[in-house]
Amino acid sequence: MTFVYPDAIVSTAGHVDHGKTQTTYALSGVWVMRHSEEIKKAMTIKLGYAQVGIYDCGDEYYYSDGLLQDGKCPNGNEPKLVRMISLLDVPGHEVLVATMVSDAAVVDGAVMVVDASQPVPQPQTAEHFAVLDVIGVRHMVVAQNKIDLVTREKAIENYQQIREFLRGTWAEKAKVVPISALHKVNIDVLATYLAKEIPRREAETGKPARFSVLRSFNVNPPGTPPEKLRGGVLGGTLLQGVLRVGDEIEIRPGLKLEKGYQPIRTKVLSIEYSGHKVEEARPGGLVGIMTGLDPALTKADALAGAVAGKPGTLPPVWTAVEIETRPMPRMGGEKPEPIKQGETVLVAVGPATVFGVVQSVKKDVATVALKKAVCAEQGAKAVLIRQVKTRWIVTHYGVLRG
Ligand code: GTP
Ligand code: MG
Ligand code: MG
Repeated sequence: MTFVYPDAIVSTAGHVDHGKTQTTYALSGVWVMRHSEEIKKAMTIKLGYAQVGIYDCGDEYYYSDGLLQDGKCPNGNEPKLVRMISLLDVPGHEVLVATMVSDAAVVDGAVMVVDASQPVPQPQTAEHFAVLDVIGVRHMVVAQNKIDLVTREKAIENYQQIREFLRGTWAEKAKVVPISALHKVNIDVLATYLAKEIPRREAETGKPARFSVLRSFNVNPPGTPPEKLRGGVLGGTLLQGVLRVGDEIEIRPGLKLEKGYQPIRTKVLSIEYSGHKVEEARPGGLVGIMTGLDPALTKADALAGAVAGKPGTLPPVWTAVEIETRPMPRMGGEKPEPIKQGETVLVAVGPATVFGVVQSVKKDVATVALKKAVCAEQGAKAVLIRQVKTRWIVTHYGVLRG
């Protein structure tokens, strides 16, 4: 089948267990790994994603990868690839959402998954929506899920609650598609609206390459002989520019030495979009880059949160940050507790989400000493995530001042 570049990153959103992962599966045919354990420990931030092809089968509605049968349209026609999108599966948890609020992965649109059997909005439905609002997402399709569990009357009542929730917001006119992700009902309609409502990213290919590393792997099975070892792989997204096979790259912050951090230099050996090898990575999708690095350096997300690009073009590295913050808007206008000196917080800035300790708070500027350095532009978006009782919640957002 022909390859086209993914031209948008679409994030799932919605309350815990409303069916974000199931919907991702129904659309893509791929089970994105589960994150719950890692998140509980609040250690690393791993974004699950799937590449979704959307196809014209000559019917009224498009189909997506998860609906094809052995690569064929359900009606037997040859599928015509309309576009490819990268679908991020966000857990009903805010730590990962925070990576979107920062510049880790610029999100072009969202699928808000709402459980039709529950009153709207559930807390995280509202919180995710607030986050989408703050990061400037303006394109959303609502998947009214678990339609198999409710009567027609209940479904209509729930639909009206969704409309009420969105009234007066930028998403007032968002399409609401009743689906059953579990039984793959109406997924073609959902795929059609995703293709039509989420605009294609204008790839800024003229700027220097800036690659946001979201995952990093050692792809060699244990016991691989040295001569067969494949280089370290970086998974992530190109925010701007292009990267080509053979390009020399620098990765920052890089290696932690006694006296600060040393950038890592290596070469791009191959580039892959979900199994499709290409010569060039472009902005707008999620991509895997094999490098000449020792895989020991990239195993287990060791480089997640780093930035890669042409040597000498990357933003500065910070071990302490000053962040101008504003309280995150909440349901019911509830204000977060003020940030306290000495408090441990999670900071999402640039592509990284790291722990830090608040050194001082002056007016709305918090100075945070970071446990791990981050590479980010001054003026980059930043988010503070704090533990409120048992949950980690985005309480403030703002920009990196230096
Ligand atoms: P978190 O990642 O934990 O926030 O949950 P999620 O939103 O990804 O939900 P997930 O897809 O894991 O689904 C949660 C549960 O709902 C699972 O047991 C699914 O089998 C079930 N489920 C999802 N979609 C449907 C549906 O359309 N109908 C029914 N009956 N069950 C569904
Ligand atoms: Mg769940
Ligand atoms: Mg899930």
